Amino acid sequence: MTNGPILEQRDGIGVYGNYIGGEWTSSASGDTSENRSPSNPDEVIGHFAASDEADVAAAVAAADGAFAGWSGTSAIARANILYKASEILASRIPEVGRDLSREEGKTLKEGIGETTRAVAILRYFAGEIQQPIGEHYASMNPSTLLFTLREPLGVCGIITPWNFPIAIPAWKIVPALAFGNTVVFKPASLTPLCAVHLTQALAEAGLPPGVLNLVMGSGGAVGDPLVADDRVVAVSFTGSDVVGNEMKKVASDRGAKVQLELGGKNPAIVLADADLDHAVTQVVNGAMMSSGQKCTATSRAIVDRRVAAELTERLGATIGALSVGDPLLDSTQIGPLISADAADRVAGEIDTARQGGTALAAGGGRPDGLNGHFVNPTLFSDVSSDSRLGQEELFGPVLAVIPVDDVDEAIAVANSVRFGLSASLFTRDISRALEFIQRIQAGIVHVNSETAGAEPHVPFGGYKGSSSYSREQGKASREFYTQVKTVYFDPPPSSGA
Ligand code: UN1
Repeated sequence: MTNGPILEQRDGIGVYGNYIGGEWTSSASGDTSENRSPSNPDEVIGHFAASDEADVAAAVAAADGAFAGWSGTSAIARANILYKASEILASRIPEVGRDLSREEGKTLKEGIGETTRAVAILRYFAGEIQQPIGEHYASMNPSTLLFTLREPLGVCGIITPWNFPIAIPAWKIVPALAFGNTVVFKPASLTPLCAVHLTQALAEAGLPPGVLNLVMGSGGAVGDPLVADDRVVAVSFTGSDVVGNEMKKVASDRGAKVQLELGGKNPAIVLADADLDHAVTQVVNGAMMSSGQKCTATSRAIVDRRVAAELTERLGATIGALSVGDPLLDSTQIGPLISADAADRVAGEIDTARQGGTALAAGGGRPDGLNGHFVNPTLFSDVSSDSRLGQEELFGPVLAVIPVDDVDEAIAVANSVRFGLSASLFTRDISRALEFIQRIQAGIVHVNSETAGAEPHVPFGGYKGSSSYSREQGKASREFYTQVKTVYFDPPPSSGA
């Protein structure tokens, strides 16, 4: 038992514990796993609890035990704790942003930006929980007071990905807690340090023991028993569609509420009248920031044939000039991919597309002289929409230009994939912009801005295979994290006294 997440030092490197029932503690088995930096695999960031079903059982029991007290706490008191956590995390933005960048590989600027977003999410929900949570209706009976209440669900299982290792945990955990639920949090095994930072800020802010429990480890050893546990009444997951859809079967078979945020194959349509300078900057940012490892990343530039050659050339020049390297350096624009497996997979996809005859317009391959999991930002031109590059989410710094004849074909191509998370249109023509908004199958639509990005106070989620119809963040989060109680309140019959 200890007051902080670092249980001991091993050769000068911290050994980080789970957080269960208000205590930082080693895994039941005592096992740990090593976390190395993707930009420098020789750097060990820490040793983290490698947990299994025994730790999950303890965490779920703690969350279950804490639910009555936490759900009975006034919303104002809960808001105060969340606000305090926002201040604690805000005071650590430089340190946490840097750890995020070391651990995940996105640039320091992006790491700091993401940590700042997590602070904004904490602040937002500290306010949101003080907004009305029910509705008052007229009744058929004039003396009946008829209204609704929103009440928490119980223990929520939160399973998060490595690519936004503090913002996504924040946007799931904070509303769950705000609305009075208790949480068992299983972060991605590749980014446990950010999970520790978020948990620590909430713990230090005064969350009662058991309200938030952090259990680190693999999907098989921690995620599976968490999703299967009958006491976990709701599961929120962001990650791959294969894992998410399996999880949904298990959780919904036992009657749990499930929310999935899955992949994307997001298009940026560029019409001939667009401001091409602006389109190039936005499309490159959307495709390449975080090395393209965002479910909202732009992976298809669907371009009016009349400007396709010019746009491809300009995209290629910009992408070819991006500086790839150590994400902690100010001059770096593109960091590594998350792991050796990811870099091998994405480099393999690039090779396969080249061997299949797809024209490479920039990048390709891996940069020389770098030790980490780097892949060059890559552009393919004249890609066919029904090819693998046109259909599959690669989750790397790869953009495919797909030329089209007109706006009808552009929207048809944009909609011809199984995902529907975000989509952009670049044009000056307001009629076409309105038509695009109406016809595009996407949960997040941008006109003249990149496909990535998510403000904390508006709904986030996708159409089709990108999500499970529910939305996250903003007011949408209360749909998932609460249930409605309808109250018919009548006076007792008059006693006649
Ligand atoms: C963003 O675009 O800033 O996993 C957020 C993802 C998304 C979050 C994207 N769920 O990439």
